[in-house]
Amino acid sequence: MTAPAVAGGIRQWLSAVALVLTLVVISLSAGSFLPRASLRVYLTTGAFDGSKNDAAAAADLLLSEKAFQDGQERLPEQNAPSATMNSSEASLDTGSCDLYRGEWFSDSSGPLYTNSSCPLITKTQNCQANGRPDKGYENWRWKPEQCILPCFDARKFLELMRGKTLAFVGDSVARNQMESLLCILWQVDTPVNNGTRRMQKWIFRSTSTTIIRIWSSWLVHKSIEAVEFAPNGLDKVFLDIPDETFMELLPSFDVLVLSSGHWFAKRSAYILNGNVVGGQLWWPREAGKMQMNNVASFGVSVETCLTAVATNPNFKGIAILRTYSPDHYEGGEWNTNGSCTGKVKPLDEAVRNGFTNTMYEKQVAGFRKAVENSGVRGAKLKLMDITKPFALRVDGHPGPYRSADPNKKTQRGPDGKPPPQDCLHWCMPGAVDTWNEMLFETIRREHAG
Ligand SMILES: *[C@@H]1O[C@H](CO)[C@@H](O)[C@H](O)[C@H]1NC(C)=O
Ligand SMILES: *[C@@H]1O[C@H](CO)[C@@H](O)[C@H](O)[C@H]1NC(C)=O
Ligand SMILES: *[C@@H]1O[C@H](CO)[C@@H](O)[C@H](O)[C@H]1NC(C)=O
Ligand SMILES: *[C@@H]1O[C@H](CO)[C@@H](O)[C@H](O)[C@H]1NC(C)=O
Repeated sequence: MTAPAVAGGIRQWLSAVALVLTLVVISLSAGSFLPRASLRVYLTTGAFDGSKNDAAAAADLLLSEKAFQDGQERLPEQNAPSATMNSSEASLDTGSCDLYRGEWFSDSSGPLYTNSSCPLITKTQNCQANGRPDKGYENWRWKPEQCILPCFDARKFLELMRGKTLAFVGDSVARNQMESLLCILWQVDTPVNNGTRRMQKWIFRSTSTTIIRIWSSWLVHKSIEAVEFAPNGLDKVFLDIPDETFMELLPSFDVLVLSSGHWFAKRSAYILNGNVVGGQLWWPREAGKMQMNNVASFGVSVETCLTAVATNPNFKGIAILRTYSPDHYEGGEWNTNGSCTGKVKPLDEAVRNGFTNTMYEKQVAGFRKAVENSGVRGAKLKLMDITKPFALRVDGHPGPYRSADPNKKTQRGPDGKPPPQDCLHWCMPGAVDTWNEMLFETIRREHAG
């Protein structure tokens, strides 16, 4: 199942996605963005214009820099230039600032790599090579309200991860994030491919850093064998059994990034305590009312998986749950002419998407229960809360530019329908690179204590 699931590419995600409400495009008001020049200056060069806010930001940068280099605690607050900080600025302390509340701004310094400097961009995500005419989507950077999200420094990342292993476990969106990280790191060190059928594995020899990806559609055990009245052949998702394919390897991971969700739109039966409790796109009428739908099942699967990870005594690392990745189909679903064509800027206010919202809520609730279930070991679990920031990135998907077919906009299938768009995955380079900046910052904070 693993290999075809990985290789199946488009078919797999197509069958995995089923969604969505009509989106209303809210045009951007340029005025709502932060002043570009000064932001850019402090994010990229570390030079400051001397204004109060920039001075505070400088302190912040220095503190995080120092913490990083020493691999020690952050400097105590009184060492910061407190004369320039009022109480709200004092919370610029990067350790406590909420990374996921903020806004997007356009940064003319451009992306961390290009389609020509990274050799492993999946064709369906190589939007430039597929003829996407606009490029602005590559340049948006995220600015948390109370601190800065440092630009990804590949050498520092490898140094921090010296001798360590980072694993991505999840579906094709997890692969999207892994490939983004590899592309970023590729700019400073060419990795050795040591993958197997079971997992992708890349080794950066300069620091013996290993990046792994393991396919897991639901993060819990699955099988196709019959259970009660759920027939052989149908996918059974065991909501209370973690997925053994990656749990076996758990002790070797220093950082584990988990994500799931989109496969809960796929046809399957849900099993709890050995009983069939629900199904998605499958449920026999004579079975009566189902106990759990796909959204509730998703929440339970998250709790199961995270609790098992955190409480495993041989797991010495941290596990980061990347929250549900929002999609942006407009005017239909993926298979009914849904589109994100022509979106060239982030929204400045998210459009409500009922399915995304409830998936996100169940996922976060599952995370919180797992933290509770795990006692002191609950501290190993971190939430990478990307759903809301990325609900704004309507511009970040391949849309029709998921294939190099020059006729993609006019081509019709035998049924007269245009080929489906990809408004779920993310173009590379592009928005997905920010996930890795958030990941780096999360690891750095953990390291800094
Ligand atoms: C403190 O800093 C914030 C953000 O820079 C600013 O909006 C606020 O007016 C400042 N308050 C005082 C009392 O200086
Ligand atoms: C990169 O994108 C450009 C268009 O911007 C295209 O001409 C080129 O073939 C692409 N290269 C690769 C290696 O994908
Ligand atoms: C790749 O894996 C094989 C075993 O699967 C191992 O013998 C070899 O040393 C590995 N290569 C590197 C560069 O680690
Ligand atoms: C999709 O678009 C085609 C033509 O553009 C139209 O004939 C068809 O009815 C549309 N399908 C749906 C489900 O809206």
